[in-house]
Amino acid sequence: MNDQPREISPAAIPADGSAPVVAIVGATGAVGVELMQCLESRNFPLSRLRLLASARSAGQRLPFRGEDLVVEELTEDSFEGVDIALFSAGATISRKFAPIAVAAGARVIDNSSAFRMDADVPLVVPEVNPAAMSAQDGIIANPNCVAAIMTVALAPLHRAHPVRRLQVATYQAASGAGAAAMQELRDATAAALAGEAFTPTVLPHPYAFNLFSHNAEVDPESGYNGEELKVIAETRRILDLPELPVGITCIRVPVLRAHAMAVTVEFDEPVAPEEARALIEAGAGLRLVDDVAANHFPMPCEVTGREEVLVGRIRRDLGDPSGRSLSLFIVGDQLLKGAALNAVQIAETVLAG
Ligand code: A2P
Repeated sequence: MNDQPREISPAAIPADGSAPVVAIVGATGAVGVELMQCLESRNFPLSRLRLLASARSAGQRLPFRGEDLVVEELTEDSFEGVDIALFSAGATISRKFAPIAVAAGARVIDNSSAFRMDADVPLVVPEVNPAAMSAQDGIIANPNCVAAIMTVALAPLHRAHPVRRLQVATYQAASGAGAAAMQELRDATAAALAGEAFTPTVLPHPYAFNLFSHNAEVDPESGYNGEELKVIAETRRILDLPELPVGITCIRVPVLRAHAMAVTVEFDEPVAPEEARALIEAGAGLRLVDDVAANHFPMPCEVTGREEVLVGRIRRDLGDPSGRSLSLFIVGDQLLKGAALNAVQIAETVLAG
C-alpha cells in the first residue's frame, strides 16, 4: 500500500485565500447532489461552485451555502477558470470531457470507471493510499463504491498483518445504479404495497421485496459480472497487492443507499478477533459496531447519511482450519464513502499538497 496513513480532515486545508473554483459534472445526479452536500458540510474552501449537467437540466436551481446555483449545460468550454472538477456523470462523459478539463488547467477527480485501471492515473482512498497521488496528476480516479468501502476497513488490518486472500459477498443498494434506480425502488415498493403491477424500466428485474445478481454484464469466460471484476481489480490496485486472490459475489438488494459486504480475510498468520477489533476501532474513517450481547452489528439504516464505515461481526472463520482467517461485516453509505465523500477527501488531499 502507498500508505503513509494520515487523517484527512477539513482542518488540514490551508486558509491562505487562494480558494479554488470547483465544478461538479453530473450535479443533478444521485452522487452530484451528495458532492454538493459534502462540500458544504466539510466547509470545503472554494471561491465559486459551478454545476454542470446535460441540456435537460440547464437552468435548474440547486441550493448551496444558502444560495440557489443555476445548473449549466456541460460543453467543451465549461472548464475555463475551473481549478478542480469533480466528475460523476458516467464513464462516457468522463472519457470525453476529463481530458478537456485537464487541458483547460483543472485537476479532475473522476467518480466513473473510465480511468481507474490506467497506470498513469492514481486510484485513491485517502485513508488507505494517499501517497499514490502526486502534484502532477491531472486525473485522479475515485474507486468503485465496494472497493472504497472495503479497503478503508481492510487497511488497518492489512498494515498490521498482510492480507493474502479475500472471499466477499456484497449486498448492494439502488444508489449505485443512480438516482433513477433509487426512484424505481421507491415506485416498485409503493406499487407492491398497493397490490399494483409494476414493470421495471431502470433495473432488469423486480426490485420490491426481491434481490438479484448485480445488473452488470456477466463475462461468459470467467462467469464473473462487471461489478465483481471491478472490485477485484481495484481492491488489488488500492492495496498494492496485484496478485491478491479475491472471490466475490455481488448482489443488488432493495436498500436505497448503503452497501453491505460479508468479507472473509485470510492473513499471513492467525489474527485474534480482539486485535482486529482494536485495529478497526483505531482505524481512520471507521466505527466498530460489534455488540455480540445485543446482536447489534452494522446496518444500512445506521450508516445512511454518515461519513464513517461501520465494521463488526468480527470472528474467526470456522471454514478455515488453519486459523488464519477472520470474517467481518462492513457497511458504508454508497453515495458518501462509496462516492462523493471519497472524492471530496481526494480534493482536500490535493489542496493540502
Ligand atoms: P441530467 O440530470 O441533466 O441528465 P445518475 O448517476 O444519478 O443517473 O446521474 C447522472 C448525472 O450525469 C446527472 O447529473 C446527469 O444530468 C448527468 N449527465 C448524463 N448525461 C449527461 C450529458 N450528456 N452531459 C452532461 N451531463 C450528463
